[in-house]
Amino acid sequence: MNISVAGTGYVGLVAGVCFAEVGHTVTCVDVDEEKVKLMESGVSPIYEADLEELMQKNYAAGRLHYTTDYKSAYKNSDAIFIGVGTPEQPDGSANLSYIAAVARQIAETVERDCVVVVKSTVPIGTNDKVEQFIQDFLVRDVRIEVASNPEFLAQGTAVRDTLRAARIIIGTESEYAEKVLKEIYEPFGLPIVSVNRRSAEMIKYASNDFLALKISYMNDIANLCELSGANIEDVAKGMSFDERIGGKFLNAGIGYGGSCFPKDTKALQYLARQYGYELRTVTAAVDVNKEQKTRLFQKANDRFITFNRLKVAVLGLTFKPGTDDLREAPSLDNVALLLERGADIYAYDPVGAENFKQKYPEGENLNGTITYVSSPEEALDGANVCFIFTEWPQIRSVAPRVYQETMRTPIVYDGRNLYDLKEMKRAGVDYYSIGR
Ligand SMILES: NC(=O)c1ccc[n+]([C@@H]2O[C@H](COP(=O)([O-])OP(=O)(O)OC[C@H]3O[C@@H](n4cnc5c(N)ncnc54)[C@H](O)[C@@H]3O)[C@@H](O)[C@H]2O)c1
Repeated sequence: MNISVAGTGYVGLVAGVCFAEVGHTVTCVDVDEEKVKLMESGVSPIYEADLEELMQKNYAAGRLHYTTDYKSAYKNSDAIFIGVGTPEQPDGSANLSYIAAVARQIAETVERDCVVVVKSTVPIGTNDKVEQFIQDFLVRDVRIEVASNPEFLAQGTAVRDTLRAARIIIGTESEYAEKVLKEIYEPFGLPIVSVNRRSAEMIKYASNDFLALKISYMNDIANLCELSGANIEDVAKGMSFDERIGGKFLNAGIGYGGSCFPKDTKALQYLARQYGYELRTVTAAVDVNKEQKTRLFQKANDRFITFNRLKVAVLGLTFKPGTDDLREAPSLDNVALLLERGADIYAYDPVGAENFKQKYPEGENLNGTITYVSSPEEALDGANVCFIFTEWPQIRSVAPRVYQETMRTPIVYDGRNLYDLKEMKRAGVDYYSIGR
């Protein structure tokens, strides 16, 4: 099939590359010329395991193309996937302006029948509106159907999640659109769940919000464990044997971040309120997460009389390991609080530092300073206190004795529960974690 993909972010680029990998001819379109140049030179603009190799392989095989020229890409496609961003607006609703811009470009350029597939996460009813919008602006007499195909990949494992997805959801209102999508996904050999468009849109929000809820629930219980003398890890282990609960997403920590859970919880709340309905469970998940993100900082703040001119080691900046994405990362909230209070931060992240520098350049920031270093040991050297925000393997592998031997005072606030309590105690580290 001849496929175009609008947007080469975490979703669009990975989808495009994987479509090429299973044999389709794919053109990835982006408005960002720099990104397109980078991709043409074989370099991925985002960090994802295996992505660059597959980009180079499929580009060399002539199945994968990159362009800013949407007209030449869209005019002759069997299907056009939309994978542009739907960021949160100040009122919590999803910003659909990027989707609308692509829909208009499609309406003005397509020269043959095609299916427009919305892969971005969009509020329930958006696919209907996109179809109407395209019809309103359609220039030529061609048949355009809109289908929903929400994406479930997780950053850090995006390529694997796409090639070996648990399921493909397709939401269509016609046999034609369903047939085209099934043909596109047939080579993946994955289970396909075919529903109507609104249900497909809802499956995406309901899934993400359920996962956010699961995280906030465990964090809520973790906080109670701390108060009541239970250990959240033992509690989670005991719970995980129950198949109705499942073993995943039971880790307590400093809350969820990233480009999806925060905005998708708020967007569904917003949508529900438009119908006069309050999603109380989701509201609770959002509230718990907000407090959870700075819980460790609050603990440290109770202990230290001041952070002014303290050397603070920060290990991990990205919202999770395996990605360079910083959107809504807990590190952002905590670093801001530390800098406001005059801390001298030494930050380590194996891939996220460059992006972090765009917000906090090396040197003076607010009332403090930030220095980026290339190893956890460098960050810890002479530090008064350490915060762990991301469970990168490079951070996990730092032995407890290293904190004791390297820091001026081995005081560690660990937002990811990386260490065994007894081992840290044995190593002489003053260690605080979540729910234990
Ligand atoms: N990131 C994830 O893990 C993930 C997972 C599942 C679903 N989603 C959803 O997928 C969508 C995209 O997310 P993302 O993280 O990939 O976004 P992103 O911000 O990484 O990428 C969006 C890309 O679209 C490009 N773009 C903007 N306007 C364009 C246009 N008119 N034509 C072509 N390209 C254009 C931007 O330049 C950018 O490269 C969102 O709705 C998100 O909620 C994201």
